[in-house]
Amino acid sequence: MLCWLLRRPNIMENCDLLLTPVADKLRQLINRDITSFHALPISGKKSISSSAIYDKYKDLFGDDYYRSEMTITGENFDTPVLPSRCIKQSEDLTAKAFGARKSFYVTMGTTTANRIVINTMADYGARVLVDRSCHISIHFSVRDRKCELTYIPYKHLCKASGRSYFNFYKVVSQYKQALKDGRPYKLVILNGYSYEGVFYDLKPLIRECIKANDDVSFLIDEAWFAYGYFHKGYKKYTAMQIAADLQAEMPDRKICIVSTQSAHKSLSALRQGSYIHTFADKAFVRKLLENKFSVHTTSPSYPIIASLELARVQAVKEGSRMIEDSLLISKFFCEQVKENKRLSLYAINNKDFIGKGDGGRVFVDPLKISINLSKLKIRPKDFIRYAFDKFGIYINRYCNKSILINIHIGIKKQDILTLLDAMEEFQQETQEKMLNPRKNSISAENEIDYRAEVGAISECFVIPYPPGVPLLFKGDIINRKEAEKIKILKQNGVDLIVVK
Ligand SMILES: Cc1ncc(COP(=O)(O)O)c(C=O)c1O
Repeated sequence: MLCWLLRRPNIMENCDLLLTPVADKLRQLINRDITSFHALPISGKKSISSSAIYDKYKDLFGDDYYRSEMTITGENFDTPVLPSRCIKQSEDLTAKAFGARKSFYVTMGTTTANRIVINTMADYGARVLVDRSCHISIHFSVRDRKCELTYIPYKHLCKASGRSYFNFYKVVSQYKQALKDGRPYKLVILNGYSYEGVFYDLKPLIRECIKANDDVSFLIDEAWFAYGYFHKGYKKYTAMQIAADLQAEMPDRKICIVSTQSAHKSLSALRQGSYIHTFADKAFVRKLLENKFSVHTTSPSYPIIASLELARVQAVKEGSRMIEDSLLISKFFCEQVKENKRLSLYAINNKDFIGKGDGGRVFVDPLKISINLSKLKIRPKDFIRYAFDKFGIYINRYCNKSILINIHIGIKKQDILTLLDAMEEFQQETQEKMLNPRKNSISAENEIDYRAEVGAISECFVIPYPPGVPLLFKGDIINRKEAEKIKILKQNGVDLIVVK
């Protein structure tokens, strides 16, 4: 497991990066009473203030939210489809903060950000090398572009944690082989940081590909890794830092690397707030803007845009310290699980394959802790329900044996103490139930109808959710391992999405 703790947070001192043109403009506008004859009746509460259901609105959104819900465009704010004023200024500052040449705000999540980027990078029918462990949004987008795909296989080496990583060397060998065959790939898509916190030292891989042929683009999905650029320990692994390093190393080569990040997953941005960061030439950026226009809503939420801006400011100003605190919290939690006897039936999954094979280029982020519950002899889903009902703790990701704890910047020490309490109580109650097995029956609810027959051809994508990485692709011949895995996932109550 990768672990580093800095003695002193390295706060970036760059005043420009703390500017907030969008938030400033919005704050000016909300202080005026403006009646819009355009749209958005809810703006300023106009359509609901005397409504019979106002109380419900109020309970959900408070009194103030509607003030920043606005539809004003053009000279009085900016035009989101083709920003030239405060949104553009803000995006440019964000690019600088993340080491990109140009960044874009997306208010429809990384699902849409990925589609925008793929539409830009892949012409219809383009040859694309794609990491199988990518999020479903990527697989659907390349399918819709009718790309000629080669999948990079992934390794399911850690059964306990459910962590996997793509076959690092296969990417380069496959890339070079295609070149030799005279049919080079135009686009390589990699999952730079998985839901479970697996990330890579991608620089050598990208370097080798670009040295062989630089007529290629890279999309690195960093949905979970928006904080990476703001902490010394992670920064060198981010797509934008790699792009800058490689350009400095190889000034004559074309470098076209784009990353997509769900700011809402790891920074203080509202849900659906995502960034696209580009390290590419102006023509590419222009094309990306056009593709954004064709896919993205023309009515993006201003609160989400403003939150993308504020999340950048916070990351610049406080990110390093906050991530440092999260690392300390993670260390504390792991020590407790190891040392506390009342937690003896839990184990941290830290003996993964990670870092060993593949030249030590694959890591697990210490902020994503996988806890093995096998010794409790329950389904991980049962613990998740218990923790939610009794302690107000929400855990989303689990697999057959383990649950995943994400120590993001919103998690405080007190939250960890509550989680530890929940774990202690659960262990105690489970042990009591073990003495009375009748109470310990496992229900098989939520099973889906999908039957995976060994040797059959899959007619659909089968996607465990979360994390949304397909287990089976349409057209796959189902092998014994996959059929078994689907059976076990179903037994453990994991949601499987089946898409034709
Ligand atoms: C690796 C990865 N990429 C993309 C996405 C989609 O991101 P969003 O929820 O912002 O649309 C997810 C969502 O979990 C993800 O795990």
